[in-house]
Amino acid sequence: MAFLNFPDKFAWGAATCAYQIEGAWNEDGKGPSIWDTFSRLPGKVSDGSNADVACDHYHRWQEDIRIMAELNMNAYRFSISWPRILPQGAGKINAPGLDFYDRLVDGLLARGIEPFITLYHWDLPQALHDAGGWPNRDTASHFAEYARIVAERLGDRVTKWITHNEPSVVSLLGYFTGEYAPGEINPMGTFQAAHNLFLSHGLAMQALRTTAKKPAQVGIVLHLRPVHPATNSELDKAAAWRYDGVINRFFLDPVFFGRYPEDTWKLLEIIMPKIQDGDMEIISAPIDFLGVNYYTRFVMRHDPDTMLIQAVEAPPAESEYSGLWEIYGPGLYEMLTRIQKDYHPAQIYITENGIPVPDGIDWDGRLRDYRRIRYLRDNLVQLHRAINKGVPVLGYFHWTLLDNFEWSHGYEPRFGLVYVDYKTQKRTIKESGRWISQVIQQNAIDPDPGPPFFPR
Ligand code: FCB
Repeated sequence: MAFLNFPDKFAWGAATCAYQIEGAWNEDGKGPSIWDTFSRLPGKVSDGSNADVACDHYHRWQEDIRIMAELNMNAYRFSISWPRILPQGAGKINAPGLDFYDRLVDGLLARGIEPFITLYHWDLPQALHDAGGWPNRDTASHFAEYARIVAERLGDRVTKWITHNEPSVVSLLGYFTGEYAPGEINPMGTFQAAHNLFLSHGLAMQALRTTAKKPAQVGIVLHLRPVHPATNSELDKAAAWRYDGVINRFFLDPVFFGRYPEDTWKLLEIIMPKIQDGDMEIISAPIDFLGVNYYTRFVMRHDPDTMLIQAVEAPPAESEYSGLWEIYGPGLYEMLTRIQKDYHPAQIYITENGIPVPDGIDWDGRLRDYRRIRYLRDNLVQLHRAINKGVPVLGYFHWTLLDNFEWSHGYEPRFGLVYVDYKTQKRTIKESGRWISQVIQQNAIDPDPGPPFFPR
């Protein structure tokens, strides 16, 4: 089979997140975030861990940049820790925090790796949470000011900016199910949090564009999953559409259309947010690119007993189960072509895509994570198909560079292209890392899986 070529100047890299890798949780003036607090609450993280140290990236960033260069990466998506820059969320700036990211950006550029900065990857300064958190509208203006401060410092070199990572996860898991920080079960605050996140996105976009010296290209990253009905019954189909409204359309429509989906609004009317005049214009100001995080799909069936949405997830077949979710490659193609058809974003980046594999180092020091290679190949073939169909995807960021702290699952799931021994902090490039480095070098993939791989 012929190699599948990717477009010229395709961005290839990995994505990371400050809280999950940096460690140094209270160093150099950093303030506490809601994850510092939440992870210490008994029972919130399955292995009882936290990210106080994580991958110690705060001290090992130079080595990590060298690894990216060794893997041929030409781009890197990372997040900035808001409480490192503003320990109280607003007010006094912590200079060492800005200095850290300044050095990181210079280090990346020196190796020809383009920085893609995410401003919010879930580590809200604790002080802002104490003042009401995302359900409080003021948080949106604090976020815009934080964006301005960062743009002032880094906007002479950085041109790719992401306001938020996955507002659906922040609002639904942070304020509805309580699985993630701040761990609230607060239905009335959930969609208000989502609305304020969007508002903050719009305000930050203005701040970035007016402050950065180099023209800022700004996007938002959404976690998108196709929702399929468990059977062909009309009831299951309707359940899937309702669920799609809550997890996908509620987060796409405001950005692209300046309104929330009508069916979802009606369904959840009692917990819908308060919107002020002018909000939706701010929120729907054109983005430069959409960031798509794709992991899996949902399969839903009708369930009259499930509160509000009457839809419940059908469990995946054991053989397709990654340990956290179903492995389902075609969903990436489906999602991308749907977004293109319904929302027409000018540019798209795949900002996350990956799986947890229970990796271990073999006797010869190699790490044969063939299941990850298979997942990567499956997904990149689907991505290539979508690009061929005309979907304007300009880059792919694998989740993730290093094994790291996976939120409420602690350190158990390993998502990295690079293995981390948490006792010694030694990094070992996995076979998947070698594999993707070749893909990047050729800017093409061999779709032939070669000899049979291990089962998933
Ligand atoms: C995404 C998050 C990222 C990581 C992956 C596995 O939802 O953005 O931080 O946890 O899932």
